Amino acid sequence: KRIVVLISGNGSNLQSLIDKTKSHEIPGTIVHVFSSKSTAYGLERAKAASIPTSVLSLKTYKDKHLTREDFNKDLSALVSDQKPDLVVLAGWMLILSESFVNQFRGKLINLHPSMPGDIEGANAIERAYQEFLSGKRTKTGVMVHYVIPEVDKGEPILFEKVDILPNDSLNDLETRIHTVEHKLISLAVAKVLSD
Ligand code: GRF
Repeated sequence: KRIVVLISGNGSNLQSLIDKTKSHEIPGTIVHVFSSKSTAYGLERAKAASIPTSVLSLKTYKDKHLTREDFNKDLSALVSDQKPDLVVLAGWMLILSESFVNQFRGKLINLHPSMPGDIEGANAIERAYQEFLSGKRTKTGVMVHYVIPEVDKGEPILFEKVDILPNDSLNDLETRIHTVEHKLISLAVAKVLSD
């Protein structure tokens, strides 16, 4: 099965997918990695695994007086050229257009560090931590879900609660969440490709 992964940063979740496809725990191959940032360390990870990469930077589009629509259209065409069985958003930090989402609906999944229906949007880990500091919560979580036009709202595939411990620093919580993410992203991809 052909997997395309979209990233914007460190790519530690991409690394989990690289490792699990190599070990055949995921029944597929990552055929291309797209990054929204030319500086994403995840690009190095892909290159080290001999996976082809492309960068589509929204800033570059804007510098060329191209629109966000142009960006989404080009991204859709480039992703669909890869004939993916599954498109995985692993730390992809841009909102995708409704047309992009609808083109890959049913085979487009996203990793998000919160429980379903809890904290939506960017900085979910920090926001959970702030609520912990103000005594509003002692738990958060991680989910992998199908992508629909409403951000972070699609049907969950897998999710797992993550406790926030009394003496946690933000870094402690991030580390605990990333460990769960690395496990869940690969389990979810394996599940979707085996269904
Ligand atoms: C993860 O916390 C993911 O849930 C969020 O961005 C982070 C990506 O981390 N969307 P990485 O780039 O996979 O290391």
